[in-house]
Amino acid sequence: MTIREIQFVPDPILRKVALPVEKITNATKRLLDDMAETMYQAPGIGLAGPQIGELQRLIVMDCSRDDETDELWQMINPVIIQSSEESSILEEGCLSIPGHSSEVSRPNWVELKFTDKNGKQQEIRAEGLLAACIQHEIDHLNGILFIDHISKLKRDMIWRKVLKEVRQT
Ligand code: NI
Repeated sequence: MTIREIQFVPDPILRKVALPVEKITNATKRLLDDMAETMYQAPGIGLAGPQIGELQRLIVMDCSRDDETDELWQMINPVIIQSSEESSILEEGCLSIPGHSSEVSRPNWVELKFTDKNGKQQEIRAEGLLAACIQHEIDHLNGILFIDHISKLKRDMIWRKVLKEVRQT
């Protein structure tokens, strides 16, 4: 496995729409493992293909907070098929926007389907942190970032700091 380089804002790849994976090859599996290793090393709880420069509909997540019970999800072509009407607010950050976070409101639970690493179709219902994480990662596949879900005022504030940080490096 290889730790891949994480792309940061304002890299334009983060605004592109990722393409569906047509065929699961060894390269796909290797990529999912690289993504998992990159996520754990960062450390983060989720990572999407575009964040390592791969415009493929691939996401990895581990929202368990206990190191001894890793719960690694590696999803190919995830699609949300239903989501709750009620929303809840959680603090979100993003490995591509390091050092910034904000409260984001999203549906409480989601039902989604995806293909797993072995090519098996799966359907799950997720709630709480995992539900928020899934929505955040699927957003990445559509070029959407968590800052798109917050007030313009808050977004502009984060964006100004990001641009200042970019100028300084
Ligand atoms: Ni993110």
